[in-house]
Formats: sequence, C-alpha cells, structure tokens
Amino acid sequence: MFQRIANEIWVCRRPFKTLGVDISGQMTIVRLKDGRLWLHSPVELDDEICAELDLLGPVAYAIAPNSFHHLFLGTVFERYPKAVLYGTRNLFEKRRDLPSLQFLDDLGPFPWGEDIRQVRMRGNSIMDEVVFYHKLSRTLILTDLFFNIHHHDHWPLKLFGKLMGSSGQLSSSRLFRLMIRDKKKFQQSVTTVLRWEIDQILVTHNENLLEGDVKGQLIEAFNSIGFARHRRGG
Ligand SMILES: [Fe+2]
Repeated sequence: MFQRIANEIWVCRRPFKTLGVDISGQMTIVRLKDGRLWLHSPVELDDEICAELDLLGPVAYAIAPNSFHHLFLGTVFERYPKAVLYGTRNLFEKRRDLPSLQFLDDLGPFPWGEDIRQVRMRGNSIMDEVVFYHKLSRTLILTDLFFNIHHHDHWPLKLFGKLMGSSGQLSSSRLFRLMIRDKKKFQQSVTTVLRWEIDQILVTHNENLLEGDVKGQLIEAFNSIGFARHRRGG
C-alpha cells in the first residue's frame, strides 16, 4: 500500500472527500537516521497500515502540519501511545482531547532536525502551515499550501480544481491569497523555502508527486499568488 518515493521516504494514499469530492489524501512517512518513523499528516490508521509501518520501524512522531490536517492524530495516539504528537497553534483549542500535543513551528530545535528542516509559512494565521524538507531525498513536503489537481475528465475534480485555482499545475486559491494578512512575513518564509535544493515535491491531495523542474514549478506557484520575486532559471 505504501509508495516508496526515495531513500527513507514513503507515502500512503487514501480516499479523502472534501465538498463531496474525493481529492485523496496522503500521509508521508520518513525513516529518520535513528531508525524511528516520522509521520506527516496521518491518515486513519488501520491494521493494514500499521502492519506496514511496523515493518519500517517504530513510530516516534506524528505531525499535524496546519490547522486542518489533524483529523486522524487520535488514531496515531490510540495505536502508538508512545508517539509524540505535534500540531500548530490553532489546534490547541480544537484538539483538547490530545493533552500531550506539542507545539509545532520552526523555532525548534525539534528531535528530527538532523533529517528534516521546516519553515512556518508566517502571515497566514488561519491555515498556519509548516512546510518540511527531507534532506536526504531533497523532498519538499507540502500540505494545503498548494494544490496540484489533475484528472479533469472527472467533472467534480475539475470543479474543485477551479475552486482551488489549480488546473493541472501547482497553484493556490484566491481564498488562500486573501488569508495572507502579513505579506512581508509570508515573503520571508517563501525566501527560506526557495533556498532549499529541491528534487521533488509532495503535495497532500490529488496528484501527489511532482518531479522534473520542480523548483521552476514552485516559483511559478508562488508568483501566481504574488510572491517570490525569482524568475525561472534565475
Ligand atoms: Fe488538505
């Protein structure tokens, strides 16, 4: 069920409906240098998924990377009570059922810092997404910062893509743009992300893996919402 993306990084894709449309969702799994597992945006864990996880190593951390992707943290807690759960600021109100939740930003240090870097996309306190970079595979891990909606022969997805401003390419919605209240802070976060050497990008919904000129695609995506002053190839 897991798809290996590169050395020490896998994804697990599951159906996921929003606004009545199956846009699929995925959990990213990184095996850290110490052999333990780091789960990003967990899907609902069942026996089959847990069996695959257990083959890879012990689950140590589970990350809710923004205000929305926290739904299945509870199943990690149930299955792996020793795992440490992390969530962004808004979740401390929403998820009082998870008293051991740890605060996630980018001011660290975090115990996975040797393997994974992170930047909090400041200036948008509603979504409050933290993006991650797996150093070994040079993979950028995004959640809802950008969508990459394909399969436009399927009309509900086509409609969803239009709504999210993504028609077959990495991009974001008008709504997301409106949520960026502090453009200067957001730009600082963008600049940090664009310093990373990126070979591939994982996004959480629909077409999940971007390869090829991913830096160019990323710059175009930031430009499309009015950020990133870089030019392709520049
Ligand atoms: Fe999402």
